[in-house]
Amino acid sequence: MNALLKGKKGIIFGALDPNSIAWKVAQKCHEQGATFVLTNAPIALRMGKINELAEATGSTVIGADATSLEDLENLFTQSQEILGGKIDFVLHSIGMSPNVRKGKHYTETDYDNYHKTMDISAMSFHRVMQTAKKLDALAHGASVLALSYIAAQRVFPDYNDMADAKSLLESIGRSFGYHFGKSGGVRVNTISQSPTRTTAGQGVKGFDAFYEYADKMSPLGNADADSCADYCVVMFSDLTRMVTMQNLFHDGGFSFTGVSTEVMEMVANSAE
Ligand SMILES: NC(=O)c1ccc[n+]([C@@H]2O[C@H](COP(=O)([O-])OP(=O)(O)OC[C@H]3O[C@@H](n4cnc5c(N)ncnc54)[C@H](O)[C@@H]3O)[C@@H](O)[C@H]2O)c1
Repeated sequence: MNALLKGKKGIIFGALDPNSIAWKVAQKCHEQGATFVLTNAPIALRMGKINELAEATGSTVIGADATSLEDLENLFTQSQEILGGKIDFVLHSIGMSPNVRKGKHYTETDYDNYHKTMDISAMSFHRVMQTAKKLDALAHGASVLALSYIAAQRVFPDYNDMADAKSLLESIGRSFGYHFGKSGGVRVNTISQSPTRTTAGQGVKGFDAFYEYADKMSPLGNADADSCADYCVVMFSDLTRMVTMQNLFHDGGFSFTGVSTEVMEMVANSAE
């Protein structure tokens, strides 16, 4: 064990079950000496397994709907009391689209659902940071991260309105990162992760085929949740103290690969 996060206090959103990226992040942060509060929406606390993770990592669970300012204020206030001081790192690992869930096509969207997608998957990131700023809850040099996906830059048709949510999420990261940098020495980044087998990931239509395609397109193969968690640890550590306002691709090289030999061969074979 190293101790990259020794003495650091955090809040981790979004650990639902052992497949969740946030679950792995919590495990790795614990291994690296951090203490933290785990949080999720009240319904997820009832349905998920978060208490097992809390027990294994010696953490407290506090319910908070990321769309509720009241819940977030309570979360940041209580977390500082429990952890004994200001917060050094925050992971926003939250995504949900009612349109994706209900199979509503992008071109025939339901706008109530669309609002919810933005509210839960993107505006919640602003709310988290606005609440932390209002309560002056973040320590100087704190690191805030959210998880994104490359559909923010390039079209993946079945990603639906989550693509728009991720664009907004990344923009919020940059904008808040500026203000937070100026006012409190806090850094804000998004990590753009490969397709990953989780509850949220597998909710996207055609996930399995797309997962295989991305794997074949990426020189290193798809990045898994475990390696994403390692990257989060580094981003929470002081080793990356001057990195802010970035969208960081963690995708085995997918984002900069035009085409791979494997995909060329697959297309050639199917054309024969
Ligand atoms: N799985 C992938 O392929 C993939 C790829 C790139 C990025 N991501 C992103 O990673 C993040 C984590 O997703 P995951 O893949 O670990 O799936 P997951 O389903 O395990 O995690 C999503 C979490 O969001 C939480 N959530 C939903 N509504 C909420 C609300 N109102 N308030 C608080 N929490 C709420 C859920 O309870 C769940 O814990 C998401 O932002 C997702 O878009 C996932």
